[in-house]
Formats: sequence, structure tokens, C-alpha cells
Amino acid sequence: MLKHSLICFICGIFLLSTASSLTAYAVPDHVYLFSYTTNKDNNHSGLHFAWSSDSINWISIGNEYSFLRSDYGRWGSEKRMISPYLVMEPNGAWHCVWQLNEREKLFAIASTNDLINWGSQHYELVNRGKNCTNPVLFRDGSSQQYNVVYHDSTGAYFRVTTNDLHSFSKAENVSPNQYPPRNRSVQLNGAVYNGQIHTVNWPVVEKLLKKVEDDKAKEKLYAETTALDSIRFSNLQPVKLDISIDPKQSKQISDLLIGIFFEDINYAADGGLYGELIQNRDFEYDPGDREYRDKNWNSKHSWTIAGNETTFEIDSASPVHENNPHYAVLTTSAPGAILANSGYDSISFKKGEKYNLSLFTKQLGSSISKIEARLVDKKGSVLATSQLSIDAKNWQQQSAALVANADVNNGRLEIKPLSAGRIAIDMVSLFPEKTFKNRKNGMREDLAQTIADIHPRFIRFPGGCLAHGDGLNNIYRWKNSIGPLEARKPQRNIWGYHQSAGLGYFEYFRFCEDINAEPLPVVAAGVPCQNSVCSPTGGGQQGGIPLNEMDAYIQEILDLIEWANGDANSKWGRLRAEAGHPKPFNLKYIGIGNEDLISDVFEERFTMIYNAVKKQHPEITVIGTVGPSSEGADYVEGWKLANKLKVPMVDEHYYRSPGWFIYNQDFYDKYDRSASKVYLGEYAAHAPGATSNLETALAEALYLTAVERNGDVVKMTSYAPLLARKGHTQWNPDLIYFDNLTIRPTIGYYVQKLYGNNSGNEYITAASTVSNKEDAVKKRIGYSVVRDTKSGDLIVKIINLLPVAVHTKANVRQAGFNGGKAIQTVLTGRPMEKDVAPVSKEIKIESELEMEIAPYSFNVIRLLK
Ligand code: AHR
Repeated sequence: MLKHSLICFICGIFLLSTASSLTAYAVPDHVYLFSYTTNKDNNHSGLHFAWSSDSINWISIGNEYSFLRSDYGRWGSEKRMISPYLVMEPNGAWHCVWQLNEREKLFAIASTNDLINWGSQHYELVNRGKNCTNPVLFRDGSSQQYNVVYHDSTGAYFRVTTNDLHSFSKAENVSPNQYPPRNRSVQLNGAVYNGQIHTVNWPVVEKLLKKVEDDKAKEKLYAETTALDSIRFSNLQPVKLDISIDPKQSKQISDLLIGIFFEDINYAADGGLYGELIQNRDFEYDPGDREYRDKNWNSKHSWTIAGNETTFEIDSASPVHENNPHYAVLTTSAPGAILANSGYDSISFKKGEKYNLSLFTKQLGSSISKIEARLVDKKGSVLATSQLSIDAKNWQQQSAALVANADVNNGRLEIKPLSAGRIAIDMVSLFPEKTFKNRKNGMREDLAQTIADIHPRFIRFPGGCLAHGDGLNNIYRWKNSIGPLEARKPQRNIWGYHQSAGLGYFEYFRFCEDINAEPLPVVAAGVPCQNSVCSPTGGGQQGGIPLNEMDAYIQEILDLIEWANGDANSKWGRLRAEAGHPKPFNLKYIGIGNEDLISDVFEERFTMIYNAVKKQHPEITVIGTVGPSSEGADYVEGWKLANKLKVPMVDEHYYRSPGWFIYNQDFYDKYDRSASKVYLGEYAAHAPGATSNLETALAEALYLTAVERNGDVVKMTSYAPLLARKGHTQWNPDLIYFDNLTIRPTIGYYVQKLYGNNSGNEYITAASTVSNKEDAVKKRIGYSVVRDTKSGDLIVKIINLLPVAVHTKANVRQAGFNGGKAIQTVLTGRPMEKDVAPVSKEIKIESELEMEIAPYSFNVIRLLK
């Protein structure tokens, strides 16, 4: 019996209601399936289904559960599915076409065999019509070609044809009667929905229902947080864990497991790791950086003029370099006014420390001008001063060293004309003398040290989405980021601000060398970010670099390898040598692509790049990309492509709830050992509200024990994102928060640091017995045993995500530890806490390891050789 009431067929409209349980029904062999969407949430709700045994009474499958969502364009404004049209082929394959928006001449198409697992989405650009609305797809009876017929908002009809649903003909005009009837109407709770009705075998519907149920169950598990632990584990008694180490079963694991993901997001580069103190030093901030939404974001941003008799204008008539077209012009009739820059949320100076000022100047009028550069505090008290003469008619680089005479947190740089005249100024830079490892154009010392303390084995840069950019013109081109600072090409940052390119490829590689980490540059796979602004003229998400420009683009990537590894006499190696690094950087890895949409456009370009790099540089490990998630079309299709091309390694990304990490510790246990290796390039546990705390950190630590167990498959990992400047954050959570004076490492940071400093290259299998047999309990206890063969130390990591202690025993003698000293480090607190730091102590272990593992804790026990 159906538990819900069914409303009768009225006026040609089918009525739909919701099922509460479906398992006990007697069902016919064939049933009807209704496919539809709603216009809720600005058409973001995706493709839904309902079923019926009589095509009169309809039952929703999962209450507007989305079986397919559009992935076209930007989050928020795009990714819309309008009027989907679903068809089934006689062989059981399904195809869905849909409208993407009201403006563009594009439609989307995706295919599936089971309505659950969909292949890559393809967005076809059509050449006719004002836009492309309500597409329908059918096979032409005589030609057997697929036809997609659409109309535009003027009411004209068009058709494109295809044999393979990938390459389409040019559009031609057709008459309205060649547009087949599109929709039937069905009513649900008083509302009418339009869609298509299909006849299917019952198992088709049964699988859809099962999918919904399975997802619901998973969702419930993954949503588990410690907030309900007092109920979930109300009767839980302390647990016993017996770890039985079997050294005969050890395996080599990657010695590169812990690395750094660096992206210029959240002001991580300019205003962050890059030591420059002046904001907008090049006067190149552009309203477009912020998509014209900020009226103060322009060439004058961060600069102020105070006082009379001097005007401050921006010019671009004869710049220092064509890549830096804008500069400041000061016209002074009588001295007194001051041009000032307060850096990023003001500038901090330290007493006795030296600040190196550099700027380009040019005399524009006839009289020689003098300026005074000075460091001042908030009230205008001068901390350091230096005078410069501007007497050249051509651009000249000038410099001065300024030593602050006091500690100041709210300082600024001032430039004061001391005589009447007209001068041009550009590339105004102020660098602390003290940078990380005292490098010129170097890194902010304390931040760089905080990163180095993780002991990362590699650094991935420059992103993230920043690597492939917002549209074709925004792809990060490494050549724009090297050479003299004034010749580098600044550009819009995809995260809505500006990149000066001051922190460029040379600085990234040098930083890697300074902290003994492998450089891992990631270059675009010839396509921009999958969430780019879309443009039917070839940019944006759908367009790739035009094929006739791909050779040049590939050469650019090969040049990068020569720049990094070639000798100092090679064309590109010479530039590296001239920049101060004659020795090759010894690049071994290169990432191609960043969680791209695995479309035809991507596949074609990725394959071209991959084949070229493999041919010219078999010594380089290429890392491919498999989408932005641990599942879904891009993950599946990305892996298919990697397997087809035998790409050595792929970059996986997933940001999930702590529950996901708890319940997916077997994620890599199932991976084919002979297939591509994995670089888990972006991951983080996100607590509700996109935040991090002890709970998320412990979930990450727990998961990393499983990664160590799979260290033969997973070769590298990096938490993302790394840095966030307080008040300028586009993404949360991040690993390290900072402002001008302070650095706040999160608890997740300590997890990374503990892993980075306690990694091993040998994984030792260890079975365990847990006294409590409940899955929810067992899954919240994680451990790993590794050996660092260099030091000979044995490292045991134990995570307890339970509210009770875990009494642990491990037969460490079996693994060659004969008793003696160990360092125990514990990270523990209340799950919601955000400011917990690890505490280390030396302990003595006489025979076997036996200890109480505190509730909610991560423990590293390093048994010293
Ligand atoms: O880590 C932040 C962003 O997340 C990266 O830029 C992108 O690759 C991912 O979507």
C-alpha cells in the first residue's frame, strides 16, 4: 500500500506526490520516469526525477534530489540548468541537453548509462541566434545523426547536427515545426512542472531510489560532529587498543608525503609571504582586478596626498617598462605636501632595523627636484629620513637605506617634494633588510620560517585556481614573473585583487632551495579555471588556448624546464644564471592543470602538453589532474585519461567534513597499485561554517595515518590553502593566519608540522584489536607505525577522536626498539577549541609501549634509535 495520498489526473496534468518508503510496493516491469528541473535558486537545482506506474500518479525520487548539476561558469551567477531535455536511446544510453543562461549562444550536453554516473559535460558554442534557449535532442530517423534544435529569444529556430555528441555542425535555420514537442506537464503539491516522460524498466527507478537512500545515509555519517558525542557515546567506557607490529610486513613509502600548497589567495603573496611593504608600488591596481565593484581600486589605491600646492596624478605616456604602464606624477608649485603609502593595513617598523627603499624617478619639468623619503609613525613622527635628487630626464633607479629609530606598528612611507617641479615616480619599494635567509626581494622572515618549520618536502606554486586563471588572458605565465621587477607583468588575481609578480618563479624556486623542498610548479593545461567567467568568443571556461597557439604554449612549458634545469649557457638557463643562480634548480616535478573540467577542450590540450613534456623530458614526473572532488564526472574522467595516457601521477583535491575523513580511511586502500600515483594536492577538513578547530585537525591527522599506510600510492600531500591575511580572506579555513605583527598557526598547522617532522620512509604493518567493536568507535581511532631509516627512529602516531581515553599497547620491541628514550608529543583539548598547541616531553619506555591516549588527541611517539 502506498502510504501517501495520490491525487487524480486533472485537466491533462499529472499529479506528483512524495513517497516516504518504497520498498514494499508491487511494481510492474515497466514504469514511467519523469525528468524535470525547477527554477528554484536561480536554476541551480539540477535534474530531478519522479516515477509512476500508471503515468497518472507520480512519486518524487528523493524530493528534488539532483542527479545532474550544471558545471558551466562561475559559482553563484552561473552553473545553471535551464529546461533540461532528456532522451533515452534504444541501447539504454541517456543524453541530456540544457540551456545555460539567457545571454550566451551555448548549450550543454552530458550523457550517462544509468542516470546516476554522468560523463563530462560539453558546452557547445553555436554560431546562430541571439542566444540559445530550450534545446532538444533527437536522432534523425533517416541519417541517424543527432540533431539539436533550439530557438532564441527572437523566436527563430536553429539546428546543429552531430554523429558523436562532441563535434557539431554549424547551425542552420529551421522552421518551428522541426522543433519536436518538448515537454509534458506534471503537478506536484499544486505546482506544475514541465519535463519529459520516459518508459523504463523498474530496476532503473530502483537504482535511482537506492542512490538517494545511499547518499542520505552517507550524508548522515559525514555530518557527524563531536557536538553530539555526549549523546552518541553517552555510555562509552574507556577503550583498549592493542597494536601488534609486524616488521616483516614493511614497505617503502614516499619520503615526500608532506608538502606545501602555496597560492596567492587571501593576500598570501603580496601583503603576505613576499617581503615588500608597499602596497601598489607599481601604480598598476586596476578597477578590473575587482571587476569594477570597488571605486577606490585603481592606480592610486593605497596612496594618499596630503597638503597643498602639489597634485598627484597617474600617467602612462612613457613608462619605465611597457609591462608597467602606469606611474605617478607629482607637480609641486611650493613644497609642503606629502605622498604616503601605508602598505598593507599600515607598515610595522622595528627599532634599529634597516629598510631598503628603491624607486624609479624621472624629472618632467625643467627644474631639478629634491624629495625626502621618510618612515613615519601614525602621528607623523619621523623614524628615518633620506633625501634624493631627481635630475635625470630618463627613468633612473634610486635607493636609500632607512634605519628606524623606534618600534612602530602603524607606520607609513612618505615622499615629500622639497622643491617646486614636476616629477614622475614608479616602482616604489620598501623592503626590510632582514628577509628570510637575507635574500634580496625575499620573503617575510617570520612567515617563511613558520612554513619552513613544517619541514615540507616540496612546495607547489603558484596555485590553485590562480595557476590557470580567470579566462585565457589571466592564465599565470611564468615568463611574466621573472627578470627585473619593473619588467615583470602584474595582473589581476583571480581572487579579486592584484598580483605584482614580485614573488615570481625565481623567488619560488629559491625559496624551495632555501628550505630544502622540491619545487612543484603547476601550469595551466591550455585551459583557464573551470569556474572562469564564460565568454562565447573563446575565452572563459569553454575556450582553450587556440590550437594554432598551442605549440607556442607548449614551448613555454619546455622553456620553463630549461630555465630551471638547463646549464647557464642555455637560452633560458642563462636568464636563471643572470638572476643570480647559475646552478640548475633540479626541477623534477611539474603539474599540468588544476582540477579542470575534463572536457574535450581540456583533454586535447592536456594530451598535447603531456606528450611533448614526456618526449623532451622523460626525467620529469608530470602530474595530471582529476577534478575538484573525490568523486563525480571530472574525477572519473580525469582518472580515465590518466590511465589512458599512463600519466605518472595525478593531483586529487577534496575539501570535506570531518565525518568524511573519519569514514573514508580506506579511500586509497582500494587504489590500483600499478596505476598512476597520487598527489593529494588540496585537502582540508571543514567544520560547519567553513571553519577549523581541534576536531578538523584530528580528522586530518587520522586520515593521514591512512595516507601513510598508502604511502606507496599517495606520494605527496598538501593541505590547502596555506596562508590568510586577517581581514583579506577569500577562503576559510586556512592553515596559517597572519597580520603585520602576528602569526596564528591553526591546529591543522601543528598536525602538518608534526607529520612533516615525524615522517618515515618505511611503513610497518601493524594489526590492532579494539576492545569496542562498534564501527563509530573503531573508526575514531587511528594509528600508524613508520620508520625513518636515516635516523633509525621508529615513529608511532595515534589519534583518538573519542571522548574517552584509549589505553594503548604496542609491541615496539618487535620492531627493533629495545627500550630507551622517546619523545612524546601530544595535541589535545576540547574539539571546538581553536588555539591548542602541541606539547612535547621526553619519556622512557622500558619494554613495550603502553600509555593512556587522551580523549580528542593526536599523539606522536618518536622512539629514538
Ligand atoms: O585552495 C583554494 C582553491 O580551491 C584553489 O585555488 C582551487 O584549486 C580549489 O578550488
